This record gives sequence, C-alpha cells and structure tokens, in this order.
Amino acid sequence: MSADYEVRGNVAVITLNNPPVNGLGLETRSAAVEAVRKAGMDPAVKAIVLTGAGKAFSGGADIREFNSPKALTEPTLHTLISTVESSEKPVVAAIHSVAMGGGLELALGCNYRVATPEAQIALPEVKLGILPGAGGTQRMPRLVGLEQAMQMITTGTPVPAEALAGTALFDEVYRPGADLLASAIAFANKVADLRPLPKVRDRKVEHAQPELFISQAREGIKKAAGPFPAPVACVEALIAALTLPFEEGLKVERELFLKLKETNESKSLRHAFFAERAASKIPDVPADTPTRKIASAAVIGAGTMGGGIAMNFANAGIPVTLLEMKQEALDKGLATIRKNYETSVKRGKLTQDKLEQRMQLVTGTLAYEDIAQADITIEAVFEDMAVKTEVFRQLDKVMKPGAILATNTSTLDVNKIAAVTGRPQDVIGLHFFSPANVMKLLEIVRGAKTGKDVLATAMALSKKLKKTGVVAGVCDGFIGNRMLEQYLRQAGFLLDEGCTPEQVDKAIEKFGFAMGPFRMSDLAGNDVGWYIRKRRAIESPELVYSKTADLLCEKGRFGQKTGAGWYDYKPGDRHAYPSQLVNDMIVEYAREQGIERRKISDEEIIERLVYALVNEGAKILEEGIALRASDIDMVYLTGYGFPSWRGGPMFYADCVGLPNVLQAIEKYGRGRHGEAWAPAPLLVRLAVEGKRFNG
Ligand code: 3HC
Ligand code: NAI
Repeated sequence: MSADYEVRGNVAVITLNNPPVNGLGLETRSAAVEAVRKAGMDPAVKAIVLTGAGKAFSGGADIREFNSPKALTEPTLHTLISTVESSEKPVVAAIHSVAMGGGLELALGCNYRVATPEAQIALPEVKLGILPGAGGTQRMPRLVGLEQAMQMITTGTPVPAEALAGTALFDEVYRPGADLLASAIAFANKVADLRPLPKVRDRKVEHAQPELFISQAREGIKKAAGPFPAPVACVEALIAALTLPFEEGLKVERELFLKLKETNESKSLRHAFFAERAASKIPDVPADTPTRKIASAAVIGAGTMGGGIAMNFANAGIPVTLLEMKQEALDKGLATIRKNYETSVKRGKLTQDKLEQRMQLVTGTLAYEDIAQADITIEAVFEDMAVKTEVFRQLDKVMKPGAILATNTSTLDVNKIAAVTGRPQDVIGLHFFSPANVMKLLEIVRGAKTGKDVLATAMALSKKLKKTGVVAGVCDGFIGNRMLEQYLRQAGFLLDEGCTPEQVDKAIEKFGFAMGPFRMSDLAGNDVGWYIRKRRAIESPELVYSKTADLLCEKGRFGQKTGAGWYDYKPGDRHAYPSQLVNDMIVEYAREQGIERRKISDEEIIERLVYALVNEGAKILEEGIALRASDIDMVYLTGYGFPSWRGGPMFYADCVGLPNVLQAIEKYGRGRHGEAWAPAPLLVRLAVEGKRFNG
C-alpha cells in the first residue's frame, strides 16, 4: 500500500505513504483514489484529511515515470485530483515539510488546506523544464493572485507556508511545533457539515489591469528566459487562467505541458536532477558505511582557495583553523574572509550578527601543534609537489589518529602525496572550485588506498557544506580540469586558425555557457595555465598547444588581476573590452607559423569546444576515473558553467546522437592538429552499437 487509511471519529485520515518523499507514482495514485472512494462510501465518515507520511506531504509527480507509460496510466494525477475535488465530503489537505509540484496541485484540488509554518510550498516544475501540469497554473493564481503565482511558477522557488498565511491558499497555518494531524482533524470536524463545499475552480482570477499584466509578463519573461522555453510557457498558461474559463485554461496548460515534456531542455534538466542524486552513491561504499565525526577542521594555506574553503566550514557551523607560514599571509587571508562576509552583509544576504558568529568560528595559527586535534585538514598551499609533500609529512607527525588529511590539489597525484604519510588510508583529494565559498562542485578524489569510511565521510561532508560531491579517480586534472585542457587547447587552435577571443566566447556563451574560455581564463588568471603548460612541456612534450596563451603571459597579461589579459579591463570594471593588441598578436603569430586564417562559423566553434569535452569525457569514463557518465555531467553543470538545460556534455552528446558526434570528431581529425581528435574507443563502440553514454 502506498496510502494508509484510518478513521478517527468522523474523520477519515488518508496518509500518502511512498517514501522517501511520497512521489505520486501509479501505485500511490491508485491507493489514494481507492481511499477517497472508501471514505466517500463509509457512512461513519463526515470529512477527510489528506496528509503525507515521513518527511513530505508530497514531492510531486514521480519524475521517474515521465519516460514510461505509467504516467498516463489510470488513475492519472488528473484523475486523482478530480476524485478529490468531486468528493461529496470535505477534503482537508494537512501539509507539512514539503508540498511541491503535483503534490501541491493535489492539495489545490482539496476543499481546504492547513499547514505547519515551515512547510516548503513550491511549483518547481520550471526547474525540470516543464510547467505545473495538473492544474497548478490555473488554481494557484485563483488563491494567491497572479503576481505571486507568476513569481512561484516561473522561478520554482519554494516559499514557507507562513509567508503565504494571509492568502486564500491556506485556511489555517499553525504555530511552530503544533500537532498538525490533531489540528487538521479538529478543523475537518468544524467544517464537516458546511455546504456548498468550496472549490478553487469556482474562484475568479482577477487583475486591475489585465492588458498591462499580459504585455508586461510576456515582455519580461522573454528577456529573463532567453532560449529556454519553459518560463515562457508558464506565463502563457497563467494568461490562460486570466482570460479563459477554468476548463479551457486547463486544456491550454495540458497542451503546453505535453509539448515541454518532450523538449531536450526538459529531458536534460530531468537528467540533471537524477544525476545529482546518483553522484552521491558510490557502488562499493554502501549508504550505511560508518562515517567519521567532523566537528572541527583545519585549512593549510590562507590564499585564494584556503580562505574560501574555510568559509564553507564556518557557514556550516564547524570551527576551522587556518594555518599559514607567515603572520602577514595569515592576516591577509583572515581579512579577505571578513571582507567577503561584509560584502554579503552589504547585499542583504547576511546579518551583521551572523557575520560575527561566523568569524568567531575562524581562527588562525602559524603552528601545526594548534591544529593537531582537528577532525579534518584540507591542504591548499602552492600547486607544487615538493611543498605539498612537506606539508603532509608535517601533518602525519602532528595530527591525531583518525584525522582525515585532504588535499585541494587541482592536478597533482594524490597517491604520491598519500605515500609520504604513514596513513594513506586517511588521505583523500577534496578539490574545491574557485570561488570556493560559492561554487557548488566538490571533486572527491579517491586515492588507491583511501579508506571507504573516509570516502563516505567526504560525501556526507559535501552535503553538509551544501556542495555537489562527485567522486573522481586519480589522474592529471581528475575529471573537470582534464577535460578542460582539451577544451582550452581547441580554443587556442581556433585563434590560430581565424577567430578572435571575443568570437569564440560569444559563440559558446550563445550555446549557453556562463562564460567563454577566454573570459574565464582572464577571471581565473592566465598564469595558472602557463605554469601547468610549462610542467607539461617537460612531462609530455608531445602535447601541442597554440603558443598565443604563452605570448600573452610573457606580456604580463594575466587577466583581470593585472588589468589586462585576452581582453582589456578598466579599473573597477569587470567588463571585457576586446584588445587590438591581443588580436594583432594572434594574427602575427599565425603569420609566423604559416597558418592561413579563415572565417570560422559559430557552429564549428561550438562543436570543437564541446566535442573536445565529450571525447575526453569518454576516455575518463572508460578508464574508470568517473563512475558514470552522469557524474561527468554533474562536474560540468556545477563547476564549469555548462548550461543546465543541456544536461552536461555527455547527455548533450547523447541528444545529438553519438554517431553524429563521432562523425564530426573524425572530420576535425582530418584537419590541423588532427592528433588531438583521436576518437575515444568507448565513443566509437557506443556509436557503432547505437547506444548512449547515459544508459
Ligand atoms: N519523483 C521521483 N523521485 C523523487 C521526487 C519526485 N518528484 N522527488 C524526490 N525524489 C527522490 C530522489 O530522486 C531521491 O531518490 P534516491 O534516494 O533514490 O536518490 C529521493 O527522492 C530523495 O530526494 P532528495 O535527496 O532530493 O531529498 P531531500 O529531502 O533533499 O529533498 C525534495 C526533498 C525537496 C522533495 C526534493 O527531492 C525535490 O526537490 N524533489 C523534486 C520536486 C519536484 O520537482 N517536483 C515536481 C515534480 S514534476 C510534477 O509534479 C509534474 C506535475 O506538475 C504534473
Ligand atoms: P594561493 O597562492 O592563493 O595560496 C596559497 C597559500 O598557501 C599562500 O597564502 C601561501 O602563503 C600558503 N602556503 C604556501 N606554502 C605553505 C606552507 N608550507 N604552509 C602553509 N601555508 C603555505 O593559491 P591558491 O590559488 O589558493 O591554490 C592553492 C591550491 O588550490 C593549489 O593546489 C591549487 O592548485 C588549488 N586550486 C586552485 C584553484 C584556483 O582557482 N586558484 C582551484 C582549485 C584548486
């Protein structure tokens, strides 16, 4: 059974019971319909309370059913809602924890709604590239007004029930800690004999200036949504609620829903939803693996990354000590943290009290003895093996037994770092992304000897720090940076062959990337890549790059921090202005190399950049560096600004079709630097077999 039924006095209590979030899958819908009918036929029952077991009223339609005929099998969500709505006995929705999507739409079909104040109320369908498809766009504006409904439906952002307490959405919102079920039953008894039964569909959607609302809503959403179709459809459905009778509005909603469900954007976002949850599962580390306690932390190195990492711990309420070599560096690091928090206060994102609370959790030291009792240390010193191994030798000497020793290295071998300690099972890579207090991605790098409990602890910690943890194996650059290198190589070759940095950036930004490769490099610092290329020139001399990036660095153009990089910058202004000097330098380099520059289409730019990621991603997958294709997608969605509505590079390749991707790769393989395009054997195999990366 996925809905429980019991009668308390004159009230039937129907409890959705489909853990973990009472998703409204076929079985749950059937059981709920059955229960409502049973209550209707029971002469002892005068009213019905509908609620949810466990940690949700309901998380909505079962997203897993979207790709199966089950979603359309009777009783559908529509049938369930109309069964509830046509009940001759009043139905009261008793809402706690979360009522989202179809779950909230079910509550909107009830005659009354009562809630606990903290319950999260949302119509988050837009985040899945769809719209509320079970009456949400028609009923919600009838209860909370058009503006509030539009805000909730076009953003999908949850609102606590207490913030909606003054609206017709709720008949009662209780005090914190009140007994929801007892209160809902009391309410049901109170309204049991009242007739006619209130129905949301009978209410009117009103607006003082309907024409103005419509034109402003259409105009505003076009600007905000760009090429992403779901928000625009949400607005059209809301306009239907305003202008059409209820049943006709429902029809418009339905048609838009069915159309959106089939778009690649929606399929990509649904993929991303499950990819995020899959990433937290490590096949040989079961969910019940014991974890180590993390009640205190230490960060070695208070530079760009160390400071940001420390802020993550403070934000999570975990005391953290920063260790530096010199007082001056320590003071600078601590001051930067305070400055970052002050910016949040200025922007109204943090109160002064919270700032002080967080700063109290951050302390500094120059002595290893002071951090000996920390449960975890994260090393964020210079990207230099000798410096890092020295730090780990020190840590091995002073840290208490059982402390986790993590490194934030971007490229270095975690196994070599672990080997200088007497406790390699405690060593792990925790690769944060810059700015570390903002970016969601955390690559969890599993060394050859990393303990399973250490991995499980790292995964749990990533959740606590509100990060998306993705496990990666040891290799140069792990998942994200290893792929990025191929992407940046192509970006460089494109300059040699005819592009400007601006043209490359614009093309990939139009594809949906948050930032093109050259604007991104200017932000991160061009010297970082320069340093890595110098190392590679010794370790892998066969790797060929465009030399333009080195020439740029030789001119001291390290990016925004030096006021000049691929672009020019004005003081206090982050806008990237195309640089004549750089463009001339690129043309001159091509001339020296005898490269004939040509006009390159945006399509070619996008293919070469994205397929470079896909090809390397396929190699990473085959080598077992990533556990699953969707993990690679998560890395790019949460760490590199890949557009979420394209699902990540591997899912995007699946949508394009792997034979098409392979064909393009083979074509580029016949061009200049064709050796960079050696197709990944896994890609070839899957393309031939007609399969996909993502199952
Ligand atoms: N359908 C299917 N599975 C769902 C689900 C849903 N609507 N919501 C959550 N789940 C699953 C997750 O995949 C996860 O499964 P796993 O344990 O096997 O990995 C499990 O429930 C727990 O999910 P979370 O880890 O996300 O749990 P949290 O407690 O952190 O969050 C939540 C709970 C806030 C409900 C969050 O899961 C969430 O935001 N869910 C999606 C809500 C949503 O988008 N609803 C709209 C669905 S579309 C719809 O209703 C269409 C309708 O308009 C016709
Ligand atoms: P940074 O140069 O800003 O900071 C390094 C800090 O470490 C300096 O403050 C320095 O004084 C301190 N330090 C050096 N040796 C030390 C020692 N022996 N003991 C204590 N402190 C010491 O460098 P950044 O950018 O913060 O990088 C740190 C690490 O994070 C590197 O491994 C880097 O590859 C990695 N990383 C950097 C990213 C970035 O975008 N900057 C992104 C992800 C990882």
